Amino acid sequence: MPRFDPASALRPALRSLEGYTPIEPPEEVAARYGIDAASIVKLDGNENPYGPSPRARAALAALAEDGAHRYPDPDQRRLRAALASHLEVPAESIVAGAGSDELIDLVFGAYVEPGDRVVVAPPTFGMYAFDAELHGAAVIEVPRAEDWSLDENALLDAARDAKVVFIPSPNNPTGGLLPRDLALRLAETGALVVVDEAYIEFSHAESLAREAASGTPIVALRTFSKWAGLAGLRVGYGIMPPAVARTFMQIKQPYDLNVAAELAALASLEDRAELDERACRITGERERLAEALRATEWLAPSPSEANFLLCRLRDAEGATVREALRRRGVFVRYFDTPRLHDHIRISIGTTADSDRLLAALDEVRAELDHRAGTGAPA
Ligand SMILES: Cc1ncc(COP(=O)(O)O)c(C=O)c1O
Repeated sequence: MPRFDPASALRPALRSLEGYTPIEPPEEVAARYGIDAASIVKLDGNENPYGPSPRARAALAALAEDGAHRYPDPDQRRLRAALASHLEVPAESIVAGAGSDELIDLVFGAYVEPGDRVVVAPPTFGMYAFDAELHGAAVIEVPRAEDWSLDENALLDAARDAKVVFIPSPNNPTGGLLPRDLALRLAETGALVVVDEAYIEFSHAESLAREAASGTPIVALRTFSKWAGLAGLRVGYGIMPPAVARTFMQIKQPYDLNVAAELAALASLEDRAELDERACRITGERERLAEALRATEWLAPSPSEANFLLCRLRDAEGATVREALRRRGVFVRYFDTPRLHDHIRISIGTTADSDRLLAALDEVRAELDHRAGTGAPA
């Protein structure tokens, strides 16, 4: 009998897999840099600095007492019903999952076969291309312009030959919106259009949930990770044509939405006034920080409708600045791609977080200027 050989048995699509680059746990990075994990200002994951809402905290505390020994409801009845009344769309058009990342997986699981084309507009969220690679799909890139706007005609052309188009609105990491009329025109090309609204609560955009629920081939993805501060619990959802939702409900893992995630999400919906108020505080802080960064004259933030700012750096490499900030206990995101080598992405935290960041940036600038003066490499 021949022995099982993991290398030759591997699916061909996975043989040259590049993988997704997730953010590292802060304790790991802190240990590497010899800094105290408790003092870190974590602005690298687009998380909500205020954490779960009061009712969500109470629900989690109550669950710790009783309830975690039962399997969750595979039909997600309570959460889908609560979301339906929150969004004013039928529950039959909603599917929840372990983060909106799971909904992205379901799109691939249901519709994408090896060789199918999947359209993305980089720079953008890396999960779509990662999933495309896993499924052996061809990633068609329609790059954004210098000001990060979308190339509408190229996108429409690419969509005509594609199975799925993935565009976040607001986009991660550039912060801008997908124009509504473009989303609707893309939905007429024959492709399924996934509009990832993970950050919509920090924007002025109107959701495409209603169009999706009424049968337009759009999946609007939403998450409790950002607005509701539940990133660690993994709970997201999508609003989509009911026929798509039926398929997702059939193929998903039955117990994907764990009981803690479901309870915390339900409680968050009851606390939405508080969460909306926090989102307002975050967008206010975003504008204050953008102004302060612009005033430094070496960081140029792009206009953002999300809870982060993508900043172009004058005379500095993103990797260098990320490292120098890390040494000072301030974590920001750097993307190792040619178009973003001179950028960093800063998540919006509290006012105190921004102040720590700004002070650290002053020190970093002085260090870079000193190195330049002494001829040391920047
Ligand atoms: C555009 C976008 N979509 C989805 C996600 C993932 O959301 P979730 O935590 O619900 O999986 C992120 C996370 O950073 C994101 O930036």
